[in-house]
Amino acid sequence: MAYCQTAPMSDPFRTTVEEAAALLRAGKLCAFPTETVYGLGADATNADAVLSIYETKGRPRFNPLIVHCADLAMAERLAIFSPLARKLAEAFWPGPLSIVLPLRPGHGLADIATAGLDTVALRVPDHPLALQLLRAADRPLAAPSANPSGKLSPTTAEQVRRGFAGRVPVLDGGPCKSGVESTIVAVDGERLIQLRAGALARETIAETMGRPLEQVKQGAAISAPGMLLSHYAPNANMRLDTTPMPGEAYLAFGKLAPHNSLIRNLSESGDLHEAARNLFSMLHELDAMGAKVIAVAPIPQTGLGEAINDRLRRAAAPRT
Ligand code: TXA
Ligand code: MG
Repeated sequence: MAYCQTAPMSDPFRTTVEEAAALLRAGKLCAFPTETVYGLGADATNADAVLSIYETKGRPRFNPLIVHCADLAMAERLAIFSPLARKLAEAFWPGPLSIVLPLRPGHGLADIATAGLDTVALRVPDHPLALQLLRAADRPLAAPSANPSGKLSPTTAEQVRRGFAGRVPVLDGGPCKSGVESTIVAVDGERLIQLRAGALARETIAETMGRPLEQVKQGAAISAPGMLLSHYAPNANMRLDTTPMPGEAYLAFGKLAPHNSLIRNLSESGDLHEAARNLFSMLHELDAMGAKVIAVAPIPQTGLGEAINDRLRRAAAPRT
């Protein structure tokens, strides 16, 4: 397979590794090939860059994203690897396996990349251009599949270009080998739990690791991606679309915030992008301040507002 990257700088459809790395370092998006599917990459340490992923995909919810690393050393700067986790990574990286691990203090990732969780899904992709790009960018890259929300995952650069009508630069690495997303495994003590079936077979992992790969159960403490509980929920109860009552904390949006000692304003200027960037850190802060109930101001249901409201609704949903 040819990993073509020798075209001239002037050709907008032939992004080179160096150009792609420069774009990513500048906080721009660039799609890149992996062995599974093409990813829509952004600097995972830059909240604005990660938010552009959501804006560009038109994704209506903030799911935690897979963070791609150049090697195990880069991954170990972001997460805490138990001996079992390290054995798993050494067995299958580079490869189509994402491992969910506790974040390391000082990790530097944008909290929008992990959707405010205290864990992160990491992988080292098995594709020469992806690895060159990660090394050249010299930072972890958040990358969901490079398709508009609700469309098929792309396995060629041409599909990425067509999907985003040429608005996203693509590093062309030819067709992807697998076409199926990576398998996601959480390491929980001595247990391995599969959160998403994917390109790496369950049996292969179980055999190599010499232990069963459990399938996630609904309602389990570590839960399946897109299946509910994998998302950060504040300890406080939440009331949406409202103004605060005495004693309640307030998550405000826009100018007209009432006086309140437990208050955070997602964006005084009513900027949804700024609000999205602040969402998880402000929920964490109000929690840390001991809020029992958080009243949340109405937030417009346009642009990133849809994802913000989805996140707030799920945070407000009854807990078990
Ligand atoms: O093959 C792949 O994995 C592709 C290529 C581009 O690498 N990437 C991909 O990324 O599928 P993404 O961001 O679309 O996958 C995110 C999935 C979601 O289902 C999410 O719930 C899960 O990973 N996930 C991410 N972080 C998690 C965490 N901390 N705990 C549980 N699940 C997590
Ligand atoms: Mg996808």
